Amino acid sequence: MRLGILISGRGSNMAAIADACATPGFPAAVAVVVSDRAAAAGLQAARDRGLPAAVVAHTDHANRAAFEARLLEVLRGHGVEAICLAGFMRLLGPALLQAYPDRVLNIHPSLLPSFPGLHAQRQALQHGVRISGCSVHLVTEEFDAGPILKQAAVPVLEGDTEEALSARILEQEHRIYPEAVRLLAEGNLIIHGRRVLRRVPEARA
Ligand code: GRF
Repeated sequence: MRLGILISGRGSNMAAIADACATPGFPAAVAVVVSDRAAAAGLQAARDRGLPAAVVAHTDHANRAAFEARLLEVLRGHGVEAICLAGFMRLLGPALLQAYPDRVLNIHPSLLPSFPGLHAQRQALQHGVRISGCSVHLVTEEFDAGPILKQAAVPVLEGDTEEALSARILEQEHRIYPEAVRLLAEGNLIIHGRRVLRRVPEARA
């Protein structure tokens, strides 16, 4: 499965997915990395891995529709079959989601549905939860609310700072995002309402 990875910044999840894709037998490959910010550090990390990297800046386009049309053109131009949002800071509209139905993943640094939106780790600390984590979910038009493929729990420790908690959650992000990509690429998923189920292989006679 050919992936387009969309980033806006550091790109460490992009790197984790790209490194998994580079391992023998992994059922997906990175076709292109696209950033909406020219200054994103992840662009260089992509080029260092020999991956095609492009910038599609929102500011270069008259409106969201024009921005997404260009994004779609770049993704299709690279034969992209599924999209991974990896720290991509823009909401995707219906045009892109309809072009890739149940084929857009996102990673969020909390156990959804808790703490959607920005600064999820800060929200978790402020709420005083004892366990937070991260979630990989399918992207729908409803923000941070699509069906969940993978989650990992991360305990909140005494005296945790936002930075310390974020760093421990990030380690788990790097583990579960490639696992979720593998699930999607293997193609045995059934989306049943909010639940993502795995098709059980038929028993051989
Ligand atoms: C990650 O914490 C991710 O969960 C959130 O944005 C951050 C992106 O980090 N959506 P990176 O760019 O992948 O390093």
